[in-house]
Amino acid sequence: MPTIQVEPLTRFSEAILIGAGVPRHKAEITAACLISGNLRGVDSHGIQLLPFYIEQLLAGEMDANADGAVISEGGSCLHFDGQNAIGQWVAESCCNHAIRIAKENGLALVIAKESNHFGAAAWWAQKMRAAGQIGIVMCNASPIVPPWQGKKGQLGTNPICMSVPGPWLLDMATTTVAAGKVFKAFLNGQPEIPAGWAFDSEGVPTTNTEAAYKGLLMPLGGYKGSGLAMMVEILCSVLSGGAMSNELGGIRFRGKKVRVSQMYMAIDVARFMPVEEFTERVEKLVHIMKSTPAAPGYDEVLVAGDPEWRMEAERRKNGLPIADGNWDALLKAAAKVNVPAISA
Ligand SMILES: NC(=O)c1ccc[n+]([C@@H]2O[C@H](COP(=O)([O-])OP(=O)(O)OC[C@H]3O[C@@H](n4cnc5c(N)ncnc54)[C@H](O)[C@@H]3O)[C@@H](O)[C@H]2O)c1
Repeated sequence: MPTIQVEPLTRFSEAILIGAGVPRHKAEITAACLISGNLRGVDSHGIQLLPFYIEQLLAGEMDANADGAVISEGGSCLHFDGQNAIGQWVAESCCNHAIRIAKENGLALVIAKESNHFGAAAWWAQKMRAAGQIGIVMCNASPIVPPWQGKKGQLGTNPICMSVPGPWLLDMATTTVAAGKVFKAFLNGQPEIPAGWAFDSEGVPTTNTEAAYKGLLMPLGGYKGSGLAMMVEILCSVLSGGAMSNELGGIRFRGKKVRVSQMYMAIDVARFMPVEEFTERVEKLVHIMKSTPAAPGYDEVLVAGDPEWRMEAERRKNGLPIADGNWDALLKAAAKVNVPAISA
């Protein structure tokens, strides 16, 4: 398994995107978002996604030159048309609007339709956090999740993310795990996945990776996961007027645009208390959680964000391990757009 430092992998990823016709400024934003996934240990949303994006671009199913446009803006609300642009570019624009509006009004709700896959939601919610705001980001995704008690994919893994000033960052799919974790197992020849992650294509729970890859993802906590995924769907696609449920394509499927919708909410903390005071209060709450005695089998209590912050510190120092299957897929994508391979 190659281990690569952040800088060369970032430059290589940018070159592949540029080779597929992406303007440099968009390639830089997209690569930074993906590499941050690997840095944080969220490999499902790291460079594993790049070969799929390249396929979409080469098939003409995502428009590298589209910028997206504001449909309307009034008070705290902004409605955005992604115009099938690169998802990371739409997300960057929407976050900038959300931060600006929340500074003006205390609160911002930006909803985009006709967008594309934007990587891990945390990258975007943290933009609001960096501005002293609470960032909440959600999106709908391709229909590979049955509603609870169903056996056909009608919902996405529809993530929910909240980032705040302070040491807590929740970023979760509304399925037991993100689809990329099953894809990673499949791409890297791992025969079994843990119980509770997936169904086969008949809606029967499975631990067989191939059956899961061809099958369906399991809603988080049964019907509660289906309920949360519906909440995301309503806030994203219903409210945006965009594609809903099985109207969506997916990055792994050709012949149909992805057409996801995204929601970006920003809350200006300073409207309630100084950001420093809020941060201290979050720290206090986190401390209460972490001082809980550990249950048998565990050494400590963690809060959301801990595993990824720890991983980032380690990977910044030691480099990014890229699983063999992912590395092969990246090299193949590079070859398709005539970008010379870098040595692992
Ligand atoms: N763009 C899309 O369409 C899309 C769709 C679905 C998911 N995603 C992304 O997939 C990524 C992975 O999602 P996931 O649900 O598989 O993540 P996960 O299950 O690994 O983690 C979910 C959350 O739980 C926290 N966590 C993990 N272990 C913990 C512990 N022991 N104690 C306390 N908290 C803990 C993590 O910090 C994280 O905030 C996310 O970045 C998400 O945005 C993207």
